[in-house]
Formats: sequence, structure tokens, C-alpha cells
Amino acid sequence: MTNKKQKLELTWIGKDEELKLEPRILIEDPDKSYGDKSAENMLIHGDNLLALKALEQDFAGRIKCIYIDPPYNTGSAFEHYDDNLEHSTWLSLIRPRLEILKNLLHPTQGSIWISIDDDESHYLKVLCDEVFGRKNYVSTMVWQKIHSIKNDARHISVNHDYILLYASNIETVSFNLLDRTSEMDERYRNPDNDPRGPWQSGDLVANEERSNGRFDILGPTGKIFNVPAGKHWVYSQENLKQLIAENKIWFGVNRDSFPRKKRFLSEVQQGRKSDTWWTSDEVGHNQEAKREMKVLFPEDVFDTPKPERLIKRILDLATKPGDWVLDSFLGSGTTSAVAHKTGRKHIGIEFGDHADTHCLPRLKKVVDGNDGLALSEALGWKGGGGFKFYNLAPSLLRKDTFGNFVIDENYNANMLAAAMCKHEGFKFYPDETLCWKHGKSTEADFIFVTTGFITAEQLDKVHSEMKAGESLLICVKSFAPECENRFANITVKKIPQMILGKCEFAKDNYDLNIIKATEAEAEESNEA
Ligand SMILES: C[S@@+](CC[C@H](N)C(=O)[O-])C[C@H]1O[C@@H](n2cnc3c(N)ncnc32)[C@H](O)[C@@H]1O
Repeated sequence: MTNKKQKLELTWIGKDEELKLEPRILIEDPDKSYGDKSAENMLIHGDNLLALKALEQDFAGRIKCIYIDPPYNTGSAFEHYDDNLEHSTWLSLIRPRLEILKNLLHPTQGSIWISIDDDESHYLKVLCDEVFGRKNYVSTMVWQKIHSIKNDARHISVNHDYILLYASNIETVSFNLLDRTSEMDERYRNPDNDPRGPWQSGDLVANEERSNGRFDILGPTGKIFNVPAGKHWVYSQENLKQLIAENKIWFGVNRDSFPRKKRFLSEVQQGRKSDTWWTSDEVGHNQEAKREMKVLFPEDVFDTPKPERLIKRILDLATKPGDWVLDSFLGSGTTSAVAHKTGRKHIGIEFGDHADTHCLPRLKKVVDGNDGLALSEALGWKGGGGFKFYNLAPSLLRKDTFGNFVIDENYNANMLAAAMCKHEGFKFYPDETLCWKHGKSTEADFIFVTTGFITAEQLDKVHSEMKAGESLLICVKSFAPECENRFANITVKKIPQMILGKCEFAKDNYDLNIIKATEAEAEESNEA
């Protein structure tokens, strides 16, 4: 036996590769933002790994519900994205994203819901146990995505998908009740016109003999009742007498049947717990989702949408109006659309062109109240609100012709200041009067970013404007040698040198490696 610490885990090629992600800034495209200008909702066009990293600083611990519907790795090529990733690369694609998603979840009330099918579901479960903690696994929903048997299936007609559910903290999370169904309420009747309203009758007898559990009850017609041998009344003799006096015991229409307890609809829980069996009748199916696509985009139907009712069920359970919802594999925009129409705040990330061709027009229709979908009708949604459209900023640094990192020319002064704030853990918060206050980490700790040259005189001036107890980090292209250690409360550092090595620059798509590798392998095998 070795002493090496062993743990139960899933391993795969490339699992230990560490990514040093660049914390990019997000740039709003005001021409694509829509509706209420004060709306906080975000539609982000870009790779979700970099986009999630970009959100981390502002949104860590704030998202109540994450829903993701990643490419299933089914091996079939869809028009809108490459789903043909091999198992290890698929796991490598998912893990770093889950790790950041975990940081974004609200620490006590957060939950993440992940759609997945048979191909990767069991691998994903083990991976999620590792990322979110096995104790935080809540359950797996089985969603009936297809409502009729596929007779052309090779072996078995697979009619369901899974939705894995993890909590940020299983001890503190709570889920809402779903509305009671009309069938549930229909079981309650009122044959004796009881003024307390409809009721259902329940058993008064339980198994096992109990001391004082067997005694005679006198019915309204004088008939005597007792429990059979080996059973007991669930109430004491005194309590049962009281219940009879309050007309809470039912002896049947003829008043001489075996007694039962009246349970009033007004006293039952106003709602029902969700179970794991999500039928297409209740939450929709793939065809319904496709029909929704045809209403929204008759010319260019998105291939793998989810029905709006499915997302509504998740949001109903996991959130309340005003909560933040995030989907980092947005597809046609279903999660953002449903979140918007149900009063949740939302962030959607999509790297395909359909961020522009599908998500954007869909959300505009939602804001205008004319998406034409059944859920809007059912909710009485008339439009309102708005969202902001963002792109990921390019990498802060790029290599020049000599292979040295330099600041990308697309960065203006404001972008550079915002980016350096992110790198150094400051909140970008430019001061209206003091030009050297670009951001702060506390009320007394500031950052100043400039591409100019700083002289000792300039530094003296900045220092004279600082209050006692304040500190400042200056990020500058170059500075006079006398600036170094001139003041105990001012640190001067050079960009880009100060951030080199902290993360990977000039890397735009963390999927490309994976997809390219798969393509390269395919080409190799074609050539062979
Ligand atoms: C199955 S679809 C999601 C469908 C969505 N639930 C709907 O109802 O329309 C998966 C989406 O993830 C997107 N995607 C895949 N990899 C991504 C990445 N690295 N960053 C952002 N989006 C990505 C794909 O472009 C695709 O639109």
C-alpha cells in the first residue's frame, strides 16, 4: 500500500491542463442594445469561457439559477455549431466552464441545471460531483423530450433527456412549490355543503396495535365503530370526540359508514413539490420547441432549441422575480426570453453568429411584446424592459513583429483603465474630478492607469492631492527612475510587464484547440 492520497475521480486526456484565462472587459454595442436603457440584462456575443471569466469580478456569488444546455457530443454535425467533440475534449470543454459557473452561483440559494442526454450524462454526473461537491447533488430530472415512440430507432427509442441539478449548498438551498394542478384540486369535493369549502377524506386508522389506540366511536346514527385487530386510531379518544363535534369526521352520505377525516383544500399546502418526472404534457417537447422556432424564425430555424415551458419550469422552481439567471450556451435565446417574460434578470452568452441572427431579434421581440409564442399569451406578457448587447474586448496584449507583447491598438484610454482594473482586482470607477482615480479596491485604495511617461513632479502633484490613509497603484508605460519608492503609499508599475505571465494573452477561443484537433484527426484518417 502506498501512502499517496487517493481519491475517486474521473480522469481523461488533458484533464490537468491548467488554463490561465485573461480577465477581459466587455464592450457594449449600443446599436444592438434595446429597450429600457437602465436595464441590467446582458446578451454577450463571445466564447463563454472568456465571457464567464469577464463576469466573475462583478457577478461572483450573485446568480440564483444557471441553466446550461451544452453541445451533447452526439457526433452529429449541426448547422449552427460543431457538436462533434470526442469524449476527453468534451470533458475538457465543460470542466473549466463549470468551475467558473460555480463561483458565480449564489452561495446559499444558488442552483445549476444542466441538460444532457445519454451519451455524456454519467460522465457529466461524476465531473459535477467533483466540481460542485457530491453532497450538493439534488437530483436528476427526466424530461420526456419526444412524446411518441420512434419506430425507426436502431434498438430502443430514447424519448428522454436528463437535467442534472446541483445546489451551491444543499443545506441552505430551497426550491419553490409548483402551482397545484386542476386535477389535484378536482379531488376535493363538498358533498355536505360544508361552509369551510371542498374537502377530501383521509384514513383514520393506522397499522400496528397501540395502547389506548383501540376504542369505540359512536356514529351519528348510533352505530358503533372500532379499528380491526392489529391497528389503531390515529387520534386519541378525546381528540376524535372533538373532531366529531367540529364536523371534521365524515360518516358517509347515509351517516353510518366507517369514519374518515375531512381534509380541507383551504388547509393543504398551496402548491406542490416538483418530482423528477417531467412529461411533455407539462413542460413541452422537442417538436414544440421546433414549432416555437418556426414562429420566431420561419426562414432560419435553429436546430436544437428547448421549449419555453421547460425553462419556465426551472425558473419557477429555482428563482423569484428579480433574481439573476444565467445561460452560457444560449443557442436561440430561450432562457433569456423566458427569464425576461417572467421578470427575472438575465445574462445570456452565445459564441455563434446566432447571437446576432437569433438571440438578438428574439429578445427584441420579447421587449416589444410581439414574439407570438404561447407562453407570452399564457403569461399575459405585453412587453417592456430591455437589455444590453456586449462583445468581448480583444486581448489586452498582442505580439508585435518582434514577438514582444504590446498593448493592442484597439484599446483606448478608458478601455485600458477598465482592463487594468480587472487585472489588478480594482472596480473601474473613474472619478469626475481627480484624473488619477480610475478605480478602487476599497474606499481608500485607488488605481491610476496611463500610457504616458510619469515624471517625479507629476508624481509629487498626485501625492499632494491624496488624503491621509489613501494608497495608490499607478500602472504606466514608463516613468522617471526617481518615481520608484518615492512615496510609501504609491506603487508604480510598468505595463505591460506587470501583467505578463499572469494569464494567457491573445487567445480568443478555447474551443478552437479542441475542434481543430478533432478536424485534424479526421483529416489524418481521411488521408490514411
Ligand atoms: C444545444 S445549444 C443550446 C440551445 C438552447 N438551449 C436553446 O433553447 O436554443 C448549445 C449552444 O451552445 C453554443 N456554444 C457552444 N460552445 C460555446 C462556447 N464555447 N461559448 C458560447 N457558446 C457556445 C452553441 O453555439 C449552441 O448555440
